Amino acid sequence: MGKTKSAAGLRSRQWFDNPDNPGMTALYLERYLNQEYTREELQSDRPVIGIAQTGSDLAPCNKIHVFLMDRIKAGIRDAGGIPMEFPVHPIQETGKRPTAGLDRNLAYLGLVEVLHGYPIDGVVLTTGCDKTTPAMLMGAATVDLPAIALSGGPMLDGWWNGKLAGSGTIIWESRRLLAEGEIDYDEFMARVCASAPSLGHCNTMGTASTMNAMAEALGMTLPGCSAIPAPFRERMAMAYETGRRIVDMVHEDLKPSDILTREAFENAIVTNTAIGGSTNAPPHLQAIARHAGVPLAMEDWETIGLDVPLLVNMQPAGAYLGESFYRAGGVPAVMGELRAAGRLREGAMTATGRSIGANLEGWSSRDREVIRDVSAPLREKAGFKVLRGNLFDSALMKTSVISEDFRRRFLSDAGKEGIHEGVAVVFEGPEDYHERINDEGLGIDERSILFIRGVGCVGYPGSAEVVNMLPPDAVVRGGIAHLPTVGDGRQSGTSESPSILNASPEAAVGGGLAYLRSGDRVRLDLNAGTMMALVPEEEWKERQAEWRAPALENQTPWQELYRRHVGQLAEGGCLELATAYRKVARQLPRDSH
Ligand code: FES
Ligand code: MG
Repeated sequence: MGKTKSAAGLRSRQWFDNPDNPGMTALYLERYLNQEYTREELQSDRPVIGIAQTGSDLAPCNKIHVFLMDRIKAGIRDAGGIPMEFPVHPIQETGKRPTAGLDRNLAYLGLVEVLHGYPIDGVVLTTGCDKTTPAMLMGAATVDLPAIALSGGPMLDGWWNGKLAGSGTIIWESRRLLAEGEIDYDEFMARVCASAPSLGHCNTMGTASTMNAMAEALGMTLPGCSAIPAPFRERMAMAYETGRRIVDMVHEDLKPSDILTREAFENAIVTNTAIGGSTNAPPHLQAIARHAGVPLAMEDWETIGLDVPLLVNMQPAGAYLGESFYRAGGVPAVMGELRAAGRLREGAMTATGRSIGANLEGWSSRDREVIRDVSAPLREKAGFKVLRGNLFDSALMKTSVISEDFRRRFLSDAGKEGIHEGVAVVFEGPEDYHERINDEGLGIDERSILFIRGVGCVGYPGSAEVVNMLPPDAVVRGGIAHLPTVGDGRQSGTSESPSILNASPEAAVGGGLAYLRSGDRVRLDLNAGTMMALVPEEEWKERQAEWRAPALENQTPWQELYRRHVGQLAEGGCLELATAYRKVARQLPRDSH
C-alpha cells in the first residue's frame, strides 16, 4: 500500500473532530452516536465509507445489494473503515414510467449532493439495473472522492420448455409469436416470467450487463466483479473484498480522476464491441466522460470500436446467458483476449491500484464456445456504425445484431452492398405506433422504413426505448421479423433489432427527423455512413421554416427541470449545467448552523 492518509487529512474529520468549532462538531457528532458508531471511532483516523444503496422493493434488479450489505460493511470494518449506507433514488428499468431514462440524472444529482454534503471519505457504488451504473459513475466523476463500483450481478439463467430464456430478449421473440398467432396471452406471460428466475439484473447482455462490464473495463471495479451471478457465493465474497478495497483506496487517495482517463474509455469502447454490448452504452459512457472532463466523441465509437470482433456468445447477439459467461471467465477473460491481440491500453489505472494490463495477467477464455478468441470470433468488425445526414447529425446502428436475413433483404440494393432505399412511414411516438401499425391503409411492406420521433430526451421526456418497432402482424406472418426502424429514442439493450437509433438532435428540438413525412424516400448508405431523406433541398428548407416546436406537457416538476436542462443523446443526455462542475469534493461545504 502506498501513502496513508492521516486523520487530519480525512474529509470526514472536518465534521467530526474540529476543536476550533466545538458547537458544530458536537452537533455533527452526537446524532451519529445514537446508532452503531462511537465517538472514539468517529474521531479516529478511520475513514468513513459511504455505501450508495440502489436496491429497494421498488428496484428489484438491485435488491441483491440489500442482502450484500452485511458483507460490504464487514469488509469495510475489517480494513479499518466506518461504513455508512445511504439510499439512492430508485431506478427500475421495467417499473418506472414514463421511462427510467428520466431518472438517471436525478439519481446522479442526488448522489453528488450526498457525497458533497456529508462526512464521507470514500464510497462504494452499488450498481446493477441499466441506469444505476452510469448514474453512480457520473456522480463519482463529478465529486471525485475515492470510489469503487460493486455490481449486483445478473440473475440465474432463465429456462422455458428446455430452452434458455433470456431477460428482455424473450419478450421481443414472444411478441412475434403472439403476432403470428403461435402463442396466447397466458403463454406470453409465462414465457417472460420464466426468464427472471432469481435476484439480479437481466441475464442477457442487455444494458445492465453491458454497463456493469463497462464499469469493470473502465477500471472502476475489482477484476471479475461484473459477471458473477447475483445468488452465487462468489458475489458475497466480491462484496466483502470491495468493502475492504475502498478503505485502502482512501488511504492511497486513488480517485475517479486517476482511473477515468481517455485510455480507460478507449478500453471500454473496445470491450463493448467484444461483448456485443448495448446501444445505450454510448450515451452513458459519453455522460460519464463529460462529468470526468475526458474528451470523447460519438465518432470514437466507430473509429475505435467498429473493427473490433464480437467475442462473447451471449444473447441478444449470441446464444448463452449470464451463468455461462461467468463460467467462461467474464469480463477479465474477454479483456484478456483483447489484450493478447494488442487491442487494449494496458497502462490505464484501475481500482486495484494497478494497471488494467497487470490485472489481466494470466487471464484468457475458459470456454471458447462462450468467449471466443480474436482469431475465431463470432463476427468480425462488430461495433457500432455512426450515421449522419439531413435527418440527424448522429445516430447509431449496432452491427453485431444484423442478421443474415436482414442483411440480404435490406442491406444490398440493386446489387450494391450496404445500401438500402425505402419509403418512410412516420409515427409520432409509441401510442401513435400502436394505434396505426396494423392499419392496412399505410401500405407497409418490404420497402418501408419505420420512423418514430418525439421520443428523445426532451420529447418523451427521458428518451424512451421504443425504436425497435415490430412490423405489422401481416408482414410478420409473411416471414419478415424486422423492418428497418429509425428514431430519436433508444431501444432496449436486450433487443436483437438492428435499429438506427439515438438520433441527435431529436425532433422535439428541431432535428432533421422533425421534417420527414410519410411517403418520403429515404436512403441508407452504410459505406458512406449516411442516412438521407431524398427530398429536394428547397422543399426541405420550406418544411424547416414551417416547423413549430411541439407543445410539451410536463406531469411532474422534475420533468420540467429535466427538459429545461437536458442535452442530446449524442452528448450523453446530461444536465448540461452539471457538466461544468468538477471535483466538487475538493470544496468543503459551509457549516450548517
Ligand atoms: Fe433491470 Fe434489465 S430491467 S436490469
Ligand atoms: Mg431497457
